[in-house]
Amino acid sequence: MKNHLHIDEAQHGYGVTRKMISFNQVHKRYPSGYEALKNVSFDIAEGEMVFLTGHSGAGKSTLLKLIAAIERPNSGSVLVNNQNVGALKSGALPYLRRNLGIVFQDHKLLFDRNVFDNVLLPLQICGFDHRESSKRVRAALDKVNLLKREKANPIALSGGEQQRLCIARAIVNRPSILLADEPTGNLDAEYAQEIMAIFKSFHQVGVTLLISTHDESILQDSGVRILTLRHGELQHNPSSNTSASSGQQA
Ligand SMILES: Nc1ncnc2c1ncn2[C@@H]1O[C@H](COP(=O)(O)OP(=O)(O)O)[C@@H](O)[C@H]1O
Ligand SMILES: [Mg+2]
Repeated sequence: MKNHLHIDEAQHGYGVTRKMISFNQVHKRYPSGYEALKNVSFDIAEGEMVFLTGHSGAGKSTLLKLIAAIERPNSGSVLVNNQNVGALKSGALPYLRRNLGIVFQDHKLLFDRNVFDNVLLPLQICGFDHRESSKRVRAALDKVNLLKREKANPIALSGGEQQRLCIARAIVNRPSILLADEPTGNLDAEYAQEIMAIFKSFHQVGVTLLISTHDESILQDSGVRILTLRHGELQHNPSSNTSASSGQQA
C-alpha cells in the first residue's frame, strides 16, 4: 500500500491530479499477425506533457491511434479520461474525438481550400454556428502565428507553416488532449523549435500532450518525460519515473 501511494505521487506530482491517459497491459496485433504493441502499460496525468520515442516501426503511431480509437487493442485496456476507448461503440467516437486533437504524421491537409477553411472543417463537422466558428478559427490560427495567411492555399505554405496549420486544425475544438505524431519529422531545427514552443504554450494552459518524435535535438535536456518503445515494448527508463505500469504494483 505504501509503495502504491509512493508511485502514485511520483507520477502525478501531487495528490489531486488525475490520470488522463492510461494503458494497462495493452497488446495490439494487426490482421497481418504483426504484434505492434506488446504488454504496454503507462499513465499520463492530466496536464502532463510527454514524449514518445523509439525506432521507426517501434509502434509509436500505433500507440497514438489506440488513444484516438482509430485502432483497437486486442487485449488490455486503453483509458482516456477514464473512458475505456477500446470498447467504445462507434456512436460514441465523436465525443471522444471532440476532446482530442490529433496532428497526424501525414498532414492530411486539404489543398482544395484555403488555410481558414482547413481549420474550419472540424467545427463544421461539429455543427458550430458561423460566427462562433470564425472566432475559434482565428483564435487557433493566432496561436500558431498564421493569422496573416488565412486566405492562402496550404500548398503555398512552407513546411513549418503547414505543420503549424495542422496544429491549428487539431486545437480548434479546444481539446484537453493533444496527440502529435512526429510533428517535427521533416523540419529544420529552427522550425522544429518553433513547433515545440507552440506545444509548450499549450502545456502551460493545462492541455495534456503526447508527442512522438525521434528528433534527438528535441529530446535532449528537454526535462520532459520520455516513453521509449522498442519493437512494440515499452522500455524501462530509469531517468523517468513512470514507465512502470500502474497496474502491477503489489
Ligand atoms: N495497418 C497495419 N497493418 C499491418 N501492420 C502495420 C499496420 N500499421 C503498422 N503496422 C506495423 O506495425 C509496426 C509499428 O508501426 P508504427 O506504429 O507505425 O511504428 P512507428 O510509428 O514507431 O514507426 C510496424 O512494423 C508496421 O509495419
Ligand atoms: Mg509512426
